[in-house]
Amino acid sequence: MQLTGNTIFITGATSGIGRGLAEALHARGNKVIVSGRRKALLDEVTAANPGMEAIELDMTDPSSIAHAAAWLTRHHPSLNVLINNAGIMPFDDPAGVIDDATMQQTVATNLFGPIRMTSALMDLLKSQPSSYVIHNTSVVAFMPLAANAVYSATKAALHSYTQTQRFALRDTSVKVLEIAPPWVNTDLIYKSDDPRAMPLEAYVADTMAQLATDKQEIYVDAIQPLRDNPGSNEYALIATFNQALVDNPIPVG
Ligand SMILES: NC(=O)c1ccc[n+]([C@@H]2O[C@H](COP(=O)([O-])OP(=O)(O)OC[C@H]3O[C@@H](n4cnc5c(N)ncnc54)[C@H](OP(=O)(O)O)[C@@H]3O)[C@@H](O)[C@H]2O)c1
Repeated sequence: MQLTGNTIFITGATSGIGRGLAEALHARGNKVIVSGRRKALLDEVTAANPGMEAIELDMTDPSSIAHAAAWLTRHHPSLNVLINNAGIMPFDDPAGVIDDATMQQTVATNLFGPIRMTSALMDLLKSQPSSYVIHNTSVVAFMPLAANAVYSATKAALHSYTQTQRFALRDTSVKVLEIAPPWVNTDLIYKSDDPRAMPLEAYVADTMAQLATDKQEIYVDAIQPLRDNPGSNEYALIATFNQALVDNPIPVG
């Protein structure tokens, strides 16, 4: 995609990957509008990036999404890029009791949120000569984590939705892209500086470089073996991967 001259709305831009992409896109001369629940952090991001704008948004609340979409349509009618980035990653145990409130929060944030946000902006995006929906899924969309089972399921579902939406929009001006990050050193779980986690700056730089191409799926080279579907051998790969994390767990603070 062309990485200049766009009007871009990004969810979950108060920290981590969302903030990193927002600042990189702002630096390239795009009009960037950031969002999230934490007002103090939105103020910090816009103060650090003159010209950037912000709106408070709770992705679990349909009325908050509707309000943000109406505000964007009124104040930024040239909006042509939506980046659905907001997400949460609670731990759970599919061999035990699943906390219902946490499950609902996870599904509402990671799956219903991007579907609702895209739906609310679809007419505006279709009215532009060239526009993009970019869903942030995860490597776990292809390789589920047993310690984050509901999270993994939401990302696999969003990966599925991305592909059907891309097909459904194939004859329109709207392109649907997917970014599937590896483990990146952010606050999503705990910023542990674990050497297995990719530094945020390197991840943002890699993603920006790939966004400048015509790729529909954007992920770092290191996860190619996980992206390559093992077919009928899928469970053996998932079991080996999860056993490695049982032996050497992700730090949780
Ligand atoms: N870091 C990784 O290893 C990794 C790997 C694969 C995929 N991802 C994906 O990358 C995305 C960004 O995560 P990150 O690593 O950058 O973590 P992060 O720093 O914790 O960022 C998460 C963002 O989501 C926002 N958010 C959470 N719940 C929200 C809600 N109900 N409404 C609106 N915004 C909400 C947060 O903002 P507020 O709290 O201010 O609302 C925050 O800006 C997520 O979708 C995540 O699943 C991350």
